[in-house]
Amino acid sequence: HGIPAVLLERGARSGDLVGRLLRDRSVRDEPFALYEQLRARGPVSPGSIGLVTPSHRIASEVLRSDRFGVGWDPSSAPRLIRWALAFGDDPDVSGVAEPPSMLVVDPPDHTRFRRLVSRAFTPRATAGFEPVVQRTADALLDALELRSGPVDLVDTFAAQLPVLVIADLLGVPTDRREDFLRWGAAAAATLDPGLPFRRYLAAERALRAMNAFLREHFARLRREPGDDLVSRLVGLPEEEALTERELHATVMLLLGAGFETTVNLLGNGVVLLDAHPEQWDVLRANPSGWDGAVEEILRHDSPVQITGRTATAQGTLAGRPVRPGTRVTVLLGAANRDPEVFDDPARFDVRRPNAREHLAFSAGIHYCLGAGLARLEGIVGLRSLSERFPGLRVSGPPVRRDLQTLRGFERLPVTLR
Ligand code: HEM
Repeated sequence: HGIPAVLLERGARSGDLVGRLLRDRSVRDEPFALYEQLRARGPVSPGSIGLVTPSHRIASEVLRSDRFGVGWDPSSAPRLIRWALAFGDDPDVSGVAEPPSMLVVDPPDHTRFRRLVSRAFTPRATAGFEPVVQRTADALLDALELRSGPVDLVDTFAAQLPVLVIADLLGVPTDRREDFLRWGAAAAATLDPGLPFRRYLAAERALRAMNAFLREHFARLRREPGDDLVSRLVGLPEEEALTERELHATVMLLLGAGFETTVNLLGNGVVLLDAHPEQWDVLRANPSGWDGAVEEILRHDSPVQITGRTATAQGTLAGRPVRPGTRVTVLLGAANRDPEVFDDPARFDVRRPNAREHLAFSAGIHYCLGAGLARLEGIVGLRSLSERFPGLRVSGPPVRRDLQTLRGFERLPVTLR
């Protein structure tokens, strides 16, 4: 099991900044100073594996370019080795960060998977979700009304809203939500490029349980299909049908991506607004400002900080030669604080005119399928919370999740009144 660690450690030993980002908990928790060190080295610099970019311009170019793919690359090799060791070749088991999850496959497979699900997330379909989101938020806030003393806002609201909404939309039983939350947290860790094997094994049990749940769920829908997306996916005509593993990967990604990121948007939003009470007051007086506020939260504390691509063709990037197979680590969280695009980027300003230019949902063919839904949950969730509890304050130190790729809180103590 030593091989994968060697690759990562080599990067860390060379004093490489990306290596520090991945290994050093305090840098990971507050990566922004390190992003600026990288930016000072130029738009593209060598990373632990391949190249790394903190630049908005280069990140956009890489994410949109057909000279780059997400396919097999040297940095995912350790991850795939771990995956193979943990899961063997069980044909039914899949994760979110391993093929055939659409997040990590290239066309033509990517096009095939994405086409099957994108119809359920068109702007019109998304607008139709608003009543579900509002009803769910209201029910959670009703339950919070009964509480006195400090509560953990992640546990009672920020994590609950997205998981209930996505389970409802996918037609999976919401009474299993505590299981989904547990499994989702384990699946989220597998997005991290430097996840130690020990933690991969911890993820294994949860991922197996989630796959077992899905297997039963698919069997039930094959007997009694509903009119939900998952019923449609299990009942596709033969020429379009997904293999069992593809089906697991697709539904697991939709479910997991549906709540593991949005919980961070809500938690980060509350912490940022608590630190800028005058801006919170402005939003309470002018609720139409929530659209812009959500964009600024996504920009300032991007829930997904890191992604990457692998060159598929010869070329250059900011003047540096790129060969097929060269990995480019794309620091979305750094691109979103690029002073070439955002004026005084470290400042949090809910009225920033161009906040929406952020890359928090990526760009190009993998642009977040759920962006519209996430925005809706952010707006409805934060607005409803602020209206119901105008006196809400963070009441103790929030605890960050111990993750590299996702930025957000595990615990967020607040007083409601
Ligand atoms: C892809 C961010 C919410 C479903 C992505 C990517 C990012 C992202 C950055 C692309 C990664 C890359 O290019 O390598 C976010 C953020 C969210 C959020 C910040 C919340 C604030 C959601 C929700 C769903 C969702 C609610 C529910 C359906 C997906 C799917 C993909 C994806 C299916 C894969 C798309 C593809 O590979 O073509 N998301 N996401 N996301 N997201 Fe989201």
